[in-house]
Amino acid sequence: MNRRYRKTIIAGNWKMNMVPSQVKGFVEELKPMLPKTRTCDVVLCPPYPLLPAAVKAVKGCRVDVGAQNISEFASGAHTGEVSLSMITDLDARYVILGHSERRADNGETDLLVNAKTLAALGAGLRPIVCVGESEQERERGLTMERIAYQVKSALWSVTPDQLKKVVIAYEPIWAIGTGKTATAAQAQEVCQNIRALLRELYGARAARGVSILYGGSMNAKNAAELLSQPDIDGGLIGGASLKPADFAAIIAATAQE
Ligand code: PGA
Repeated sequence: MNRRYRKTIIAGNWKMNMVPSQVKGFVEELKPMLPKTRTCDVVLCPPYPLLPAAVKAVKGCRVDVGAQNISEFASGAHTGEVSLSMITDLDARYVILGHSERRADNGETDLLVNAKTLAALGAGLRPIVCVGESEQERERGLTMERIAYQVKSALWSVTPDQLKKVVIAYEPIWAIGTGKTATAAQAQEVCQNIRALLRELYGARAARGVSILYGGSMNAKNAAELLSQPDIDGGLIGGASLKPADFAAIIAATAQE
């Protein structure tokens, strides 16, 4: 973390878990465990039908809400899709884009992730753009090539001013939901390389302002070490964001430096 230049963000990706009636209780339990002084921005990203309850539950408690995806289209004949304006109208502020599960389950391409990133930025939402290599790509030494391609594609035609709103999440696919976390050194190496790429694309000043999160089996035990790395500015948390105490322990880890 480098608080001088950028925000630390801990975002919970609930994936396809929980039901609307559980949201209030979750937030009520989380609230008293949040640090008294703000050490990071906290974001909850529940499934769509839980968003209204989440927005209502976090009112007055310094927690933001985000969606896990959006349509690249503004409105109209797109059965089963959810538009940006539906999300912004609810007062959600973030949206996760290009998660590897959406790339795998729904065939989302880098070009589509770019279209969604541009749409989200146009609507004033903060995109959390996910990038990450597969196990085979890592074994073959293709990690940075893959990540650089994903970052460049996602940010195609994103302006320097828009970049200020972009959050990047480095999530090695082999570490997601597997309990197999990247070591702090592995995660730092990739996050540092992402920042170097941003520097090339946007200049040093812009690059140092971008929050880059790590995601992939981050938990209460390994969070402090991962977050102590200079280019890791927070976490995108799946499994460990589903229990208030586990999530709060990761948030608490941002107080250490
Ligand atoms: P995990 O998921 O923490 O359960 O590994 C992270 C993510 O997919 O965002």
